[in-house]
Amino acid sequence: MRKKIIVGNWKMNNSNIETLSLLDELLKCNFSKKVRIIVSPSFTQLSLVSEKLKKSNIEVASQNMHSANKGAFTGEVSSLMIKSSDVFISILGHSERRTYFNETNEVLKEKVDQAIKENIEIIFCVGEKLSDRKSKNHFEYIKHQLEKTIFLQSKDSLRNIIIAYEPIWAIGTGETASPEQVQEMHLYIRNLISKKYNTILANSVSILYGGSVKPSNANDIFSQPDVDGGLIGGASLNSKDFAAIVNAL
Ligand code: PGA
Repeated sequence: MRKKIIVGNWKMNNSNIETLSLLDELLKCNFSKKVRIIVSPSFTQLSLVSEKLKKSNIEVASQNMHSANKGAFTGEVSSLMIKSSDVFISILGHSERRTYFNETNEVLKEKVDQAIKENIEIIFCVGEKLSDRKSKNHFEYIKHQLEKTIFLQSKDSLRNIIIAYEPIWAIGTGETASPEQVQEMHLYIRNLISKKYNTILANSVSILYGGSVKPSNANDIFSQPDVDGGLIGGASLNSKDFAAIVNAL
């Protein structure tokens, strides 16, 4: 059975005090026990958040990491540093990293290699631009992103990667992909895994959807057979909305 997962991507939001009060609210929420819940604060708050959530069943992920363990990379954060904050999961390949920070598939391949080497679980994001969808190139685009990165990994490594499909045109825009569009892409990704590796593996990889998920649309999206959860941006900053989304899964 595939794991059901909701990840809250807090992006570059909230001071330490605001994060602590969000955590207090989250710790009071009644979350469904069937769902694996992960939150992803900024680097500066990783220790704070992992300490505060230590006794809860909410896990913590970083939003990014560098591909080297250490060295002259001013402003960067390594997997060893993340691990020393008791964090063992990282989002990689978010479209905001790809778009604003030039993270190409080649850069991401190195980060994926490093995460696997360091036993960091990966939440790997893929997603097409609106122009790709309009020109009906979206399937090829996603295939290319996967083939140049996580599909270069072994079967055993892929088994521990969570994939997040996040169409760029739906992130933070209020525009959600329709449940049919989401299902179609998730099934496409699963079939690619099946062809490249095998069906058992394809059926065990969790594929999350991200892009303007809200309490009002979560049910419809999560009811699709190949959707195993969500990567939630804006709505994860509000504990009530986040709990409603978790409990819709
Ligand atoms: P959004 O962001 O839910 O605010 O659209 C999703 C994401 O970027 O992961």
